[in-house]
Amino acid sequence: MRSDPLGYLTTELEALKQQGLYRTLRVLEGEQKAHTTFDHRQVVNLSSNNYLGLTTHPLLRERALEATRRLGVGSGSVRSIAGTMDIHMELERRLALFKHTEAVVVFQSGFAANAGTVAAVLSKDDVVISDELNHASIIDGCRLSRAAIKVFPHKDAAAARRIVAELPSAQRKLLITDGVFSMDGDLGALPALCDIAEEFGCIMMVDDAHASGVFGRNGRGTIDHFGMHGRVDIQVGTLSKAIGALGGYVAGSRALVEFLYHRARPFLFSTSHPPAVAAACIAALDVLEQEPQIIERLWENTRFFKTGLQTLGFNTGLSESPITPVIVGDGALAMKLSDRLFQEGVFSQGIAFPTVARDKARVRTIVTATHTRDELQFALDVFAKVGRELSIL
Ligand SMILES: Cc1ncc(COP(=O)(O)O)c(C=O)c1O
Repeated sequence: MRSDPLGYLTTELEALKQQGLYRTLRVLEGEQKAHTTFDHRQVVNLSSNNYLGLTTHPLLRERALEATRRLGVGSGSVRSIAGTMDIHMELERRLALFKHTEAVVVFQSGFAANAGTVAAVLSKDDVVISDELNHASIIDGCRLSRAAIKVFPHKDAAAARRIVAELPSAQRKLLITDGVFSMDGDLGALPALCDIAEEFGCIMMVDDAHASGVFGRNGRGTIDHFGMHGRVDIQVGTLSKAIGALGGYVAGSRALVEFLYHRARPFLFSTSHPPAVAAACIAALDVLEQEPQIIERLWENTRFFKTGLQTLGFNTGLSESPITPVIVGDGALAMKLSDRLFQEGVFSQGIAFPTVARDKARVRTIVTATHTRDELQFALDVFAKVGRELSIL
């Protein structure tokens, strides 16, 4: 009999089980909301990226349904062949106005936007200078580009400058950072990195996946927050988090967007969004313009919950955003904490190596604008109880 050539996968899964790092997928049995049901248990949900509660906003639902009735459920093709619908073009125009750039190209996801863009704009003779905690989609894009990859310590602009200064001036360089780091909730060293990019003629790129809809005026992102308009050549955003639907985009010059239309592989080789997705995203931009108070509510909840965790004595790292990690160190302990919180009615996902460093395992909390004070207070009480039980506090 033929032996299983994939047998080593089972061995690796067994090893994860031994280490207490094996995860089963939590299944959501209703809408993605602040208080909802996963795995038959009602929980306060601190694990989604649904910052503004837009996944269930009535206007987005209505526009998605209307677009489906009028235009059908699929686009039927990749963008560059027959899959560019007028609603895709409208979304790109609206995003460009929102981001104050000449143009925008929309991708199927934020992952595709990052990976497809870095791989398209760089090639093997180029260099990318990247923060050590940048998102996996940036790392994959760098690898696909075949450019040399130089990593600087997290947020250490002085180290980034030293790397850049040693490179030949004629060499093409891309300096890249997340706007908000997804596992730590801190902000990239944007102003200092923009200065370096200008001094040495680097392309400056920022992944604002967790900042769009959260930071800046009406949620325009960290570039707006830091007053950096015109200084970042490539801005990536996602439509899958605060915007509540699905997708990613690149905002920049008309030439950049036209180039990506011709060379970004996810754009060329993967089908575009169904019209309902584009319609929901346009509706989300309307909400950001017309109801900025939901962003204020997000921040009020963020301050309340973050302060609560810190007052209890948890290590919340350097977070400056609605993402607040509770860092416990050991991977198995993080998973245990997450499981116990869940049993007590709070869903906060455990995160361990390789997503974060081996000694920095954590549970990650994300509050949204739609959490009530009672829900957040309940979550803090559960954190206190379980934290003491596991001798974390
Ligand atoms: C920093 C960062 N960039 C990009 C992405 C990818 O976005 P999307 O979920 O739209 O693919 C994520 C999502 O996990 C992220 O956290």
